[in-house]
Amino acid sequence: MTISRLLVVGASGLVGSEVMRAASSVELKLPTGPRVPFSSSPSSVAESAMLIGAPARVTLGVARNVSGFATKAMDLLDPRAINAVVTEFKPDGVIIASAWPHVDGCEQDPARSSRENVQTVKNLIAALADSVRVGFFSTEHVFDGKQAEYDERSKTHPLSVYAKHKRDVEELLLTRGNAMVARTSYVFGAEAKRKNFMYRVIDASEKKTALKVPTAQAGMPTWAVWLAKSALQLLDSDFEGIAHLTGPQVLTKGEWARVLAKGLALPDVEITEVPWQESGQIAPRPERVRLISTKHDLHHPPLLELLSQEREALLTKVV
Ligand SMILES: NC(=O)c1ccc[n+]([C@@H]2O[C@H](COP(=O)([O-])OP(=O)(O)OC[C@H]3O[C@@H](n4cnc5c(N)ncnc54)[C@H](OP(=O)(O)O)[C@@H]3O)[C@@H](O)[C@H]2O)c1
Repeated sequence: MTISRLLVVGASGLVGSEVMRAASSVELKLPTGPRVPFSSSPSSVAESAMLIGAPARVTLGVARNVSGFATKAMDLLDPRAINAVVTEFKPDGVIIASAWPHVDGCEQDPARSSRENVQTVKNLIAALADSVRVGFFSTEHVFDGKQAEYDERSKTHPLSVYAKHKRDVEELLLTRGNAMVARTSYVFGAEAKRKNFMYRVIDASEKKTALKVPTAQAGMPTWAVWLAKSALQLLDSDFEGIAHLTGPQVLTKGEWARVLAKGLALPDVEITEVPWQESGQIAPRPERVRLISTKHDLHHPPLLELLSQEREALLTKVV
C-alpha cells in the first residue's frame, strides 16, 4: 500500500526533514481517474499541507513549533491539537520522527522523558484509526551491547531511561500493529540545528580545537537521507514490525571522527579519546552495538565514498 496522505511528526528535526524530502521522490501508481485532491476543504491545516513532488502524495509536516518543513504546530502533549490535525488532514500514514532524544537529559529527568518520549506517542496513537500505517524511529540503545550482533528478533536490554522509554514505545506499536519500527544509530547529515556529531568534527577542524570523544563506545553511523528513504519504502510496503536500518560499520566516536575528516577532506582534526566517565556523559550506554537485519535487503552506501560524493551537500549550511 502506498501512502497517499502522509503526516510527518517531527518534520523540523534531522530525520523528519529528510523524511519530508524523501516523500517527494516516491512515484505513486494510481488507478486511472482523478488525482487525489490536495484537500476537500479550505481549512488552515489543508492550506499548510505541502504538496511536494509526486502528484498524488500529500505530505504534511508538523512539530511542536513551526520551523523548517514543519508548517503546522502540533504538540503531541495536546490531544485536542492532535485530533484537530488528524480529523482535518485524514492521514493514511504517519511517521513519528519526534522525540526528546537527549540521552543524558532523560537520565536526569525521567518524568520528562516519559512524557515526551512515551505519552506523546500514546496520545497520537489514540487519535488514529487502526487502518492508519505508523512508522517510528528507535535506537540501538535498546540493547546492552554484550552480544556480538543483534538482529530484529534479539532480546532487548535497555541500560538508560531514554532507551527504556524507546523500548516501551516499540512494544506499544508492535502491540497495536500496522506499524514499522526502524531502529537506527549515530544519524548524521546536513541539519539546520547543527547538532549531530558531524558538526562537532567540522567545528573542530575550523576552530582548530581538540575534539574530546569517549573511548570504547561504538555505534553505526547512518546517513539521514538513506534512513528516511528506507523507512518510507518500508512504510509504503506491507512491512510489519521492527527493521534495523543502519550504516555498514561499527565505529567508535574517534574512528567515526577520522572517517568524517577524511571523507569530507577536513584539515587539522585533532581527536582526544577519554574514558566515558571523563566525557561528561551521565547516562549509561551500550559499549558496542552491531545491528544486522534479517528482515529486509536495503543496503547503506559505504561511508567514505558517500562522504566524498555528498561533501558539498553535507558542508552546505542548512537554514
Ligand atoms: N539522531 C540520532 O542519532 C538517532 C539515533 C537513533 C534513533 N534516533 C531517533 O530518531 C528520531 C528522530 O531523531 P532526530 O535526531 O531527528 O530528532 P531531532 O532532530 O531532535 O528532532 C525532534 C523533532 O521532534 C519534534 N518534537 C519534539 N517533541 C515534540 C512534541 N511534544 N510534539 C511535536 N513534536 C515534537 C521537534 O520539534 P520542536 O523542535 O518544534 O520541538 C523536532 O521536530 C527520534 O525518535 C530518535 O530517538 C535518532
